[in-house]
Amino acid sequence: MGAIGKPVARVDGPAKVTGTATYAAEFHPENMAYAALVHGTIPRGWIKSIATDAAESVPGVIAVVTHLNAPRLPWKPVDAAPVDPGEGEQLRPLHSDEILFAGQPIALVIAESQETARAAAALVSFTCVPSDGAGLVFDRARARPPSDGTRESYPAEWERGDAEGAFASAPRRIEGSYLQPRLFHNAMEPHATIAAWDDEGKLTLWDKSQWVDNVRDQITRNFGLAEDEVRVISPFVGGAFGSALRCWPHVTMAAMAARIARRPVRLELTRRELYTAVGYRPYTLQDVKLAADEDGRLRSVIQTAYGLTSAYEDYGEEVLDPVGMLYDTMSARTVYRLVELDTNTPTPMRGPGAVTGVFALEMAIDEMADAMDMDPLEFRLKNYAERDLKKDLPFSSKALRSCYETAALRFGWEKRDPRRRAMHDGNMLVGYGMATAVWPAMQAPASVRIRLFANGTAVVRTAASDMGPGTYTSMTQVAADRLDLPVERVTFELGDSSLPMAPVHGGSMTMASVGNAVAAGCKKLRDDIARLDGAEDGEHPVETLMRLRRDSFEVDGAAEPGAEAGTHSSYAFGAVFAEVRVDPDFGTVRVPRLVGAYDGGVIVNPRTARSQAIGGMVQGIGMALMEAGEWDDRLGRVMNANLAEYLVPVHADVEELEAVFVESEDRIFNPLGVKGIAEIALCGVAPAIANAVWHATGLRIRELPLTPDRLLMAEQAARTS
Ligand code: MOS
Repeated sequence: MGAIGKPVARVDGPAKVTGTATYAAEFHPENMAYAALVHGTIPRGWIKSIATDAAESVPGVIAVVTHLNAPRLPWKPVDAAPVDPGEGEQLRPLHSDEILFAGQPIALVIAESQETARAAAALVSFTCVPSDGAGLVFDRARARPPSDGTRESYPAEWERGDAEGAFASAPRRIEGSYLQPRLFHNAMEPHATIAAWDDEGKLTLWDKSQWVDNVRDQITRNFGLAEDEVRVISPFVGGAFGSALRCWPHVTMAAMAARIARRPVRLELTRRELYTAVGYRPYTLQDVKLAADEDGRLRSVIQTAYGLTSAYEDYGEEVLDPVGMLYDTMSARTVYRLVELDTNTPTPMRGPGAVTGVFALEMAIDEMADAMDMDPLEFRLKNYAERDLKKDLPFSSKALRSCYETAALRFGWEKRDPRRRAMHDGNMLVGYGMATAVWPAMQAPASVRIRLFANGTAVVRTAASDMGPGTYTSMTQVAADRLDLPVERVTFELGDSSLPMAPVHGGSMTMASVGNAVAAGCKKLRDDIARLDGAEDGEHPVETLMRLRRDSFEVDGAAEPGAEAGTHSSYAFGAVFAEVRVDPDFGTVRVPRLVGAYDGGVIVNPRTARSQAIGGMVQGIGMALMEAGEWDDRLGRVMNANLAEYLVPVHADVEELEAVFVESEDRIFNPLGVKGIAEIALCGVAPAIANAVWHATGLRIRELPLTPDRLLMAEQAARTS
């Protein structure tokens, strides 16, 4: 039937738009109670006293839990999952009187209704004693190498050739510092957990999760349970962008509350709590130095990143991974440092690391092109890397050239006046800018169970997640394709830790991982049926089952990365072109047009893929122009911890978006030929817009977001200098 590559409408679309898709907070086990949290207000110190009587006396309150009466959990050591920081210890909620950051949960109220729980939580009073900690001011003088020496992905130092020497001796040089603020996932669905213990002491969790197996493993160890005593259910996730990768403290607290109340308890976080209870993209300061020959050949790239982490966990990310591989440059050097603050731990957010690093690198590349008087696209093509010089391996596939060409053509790049501040539309300054996008293609072991029925239907099951990209749909297509069945006859089930093991739904690797497991499982199913006694050559497996009078046939399938990781370098690529309109009087920026072309390997569903890409573009408009968690470095709090003041693009901020997937397949990387298309879609958008703003105005603003105040101040500085 060839279901792969078809623009199939989301199989879960009707359930989602009619409200029958059930998200974590929407399950209603019988006799459920509700929990609300109380938060500490100082950034570091100790709880001296805590008074719960007033809350306890509210009618409908079942219990108030603090560190004084919380059950002592075993907290068995957890092997750091790939989504956890390699060093440090996760927050143990209600475990002791120690306060590590402002907003840390210090009490939990359980009540008959959500409203009662929240109202009673407001009546819990407490006093705290401040103590010295890591501090609240992001100061690069306090930077240190990441303490986790085991992760090769973010080395403290890395170098090819003599980067400083090449920089010093090159005829053309630029350098600059770039700032990306603290960014929050702000998915539509708030995090929520419902916990229920049964009479045998088994725990069921309905949780918002990108990795149900990981939540099961962590909760199993926190509570000292056996693996089969915890089940995590998460059939629908209303966006996550990385915020639901880890098992956060509220999950443990929900399970704790349900044990104390002896009934199911729901703990749903408020929007404000999402700024402290889960992670965020860390504030990151970067210095970039580029050097080139007179003819426009890059000779040296030196990039230093200072990332924010908490005082209790060492969160690092691959900010500098693209530096050594994105361009063909003989020498390159990266330095990665962390700055600890008394704050909650950062976590991956869509395109963690690469989005941050590429923002600085692609703005710097643009500045270098300008310094060379070269077209920014021509400059990038001149330094095109045909091989991954960092790993010293060939790419398993790379269609970036075709991304550049396709996007430039569709955008109309040739209409760009190379001079800055030269294009106008009435009073508006018009700018064209572009940037490269890159994201590592990854695959992890995954498994599935497939049952084919003689009535011509099939059910595929795995513990994977679908946070919105359309996993239900695209996996249904892979199975339908490989079983030669209509898409309507295949059902895909996911989001349950009792199903066959699946890896984290992150890193844009679900299709490469689970998709290849589905394909492998389908092949095994067909092979096994073809080997049944009485099977005939060339007949469809459904015909075999019918003829042999078997109701159904089931197999387990699995896939894992092949040996190509050692012989090839695999990345998804993209090129993003942006048009901006800047009001020179008000400093406001609009983005009338974005065009992105992507090399993501085989596209299983062009419709959901386009949705991914334009979603990333919208998020990129937010990153470029609006989003920032404003940190108060006296109180240690994010001041705009709500969706009224943390601005994200709304419909009126978004105009024309065009996403194209160039012809590409990567059969070296995996049998399906897919590379992953989620995170690549955010990468490159912010620098493309910032480069367009420079082209429109002549102002090089190296701090995100490009808000009107920054533009006006830069304009004023440019006039007076
Ligand atoms: Mo993604 S940041 O791995 O959800």
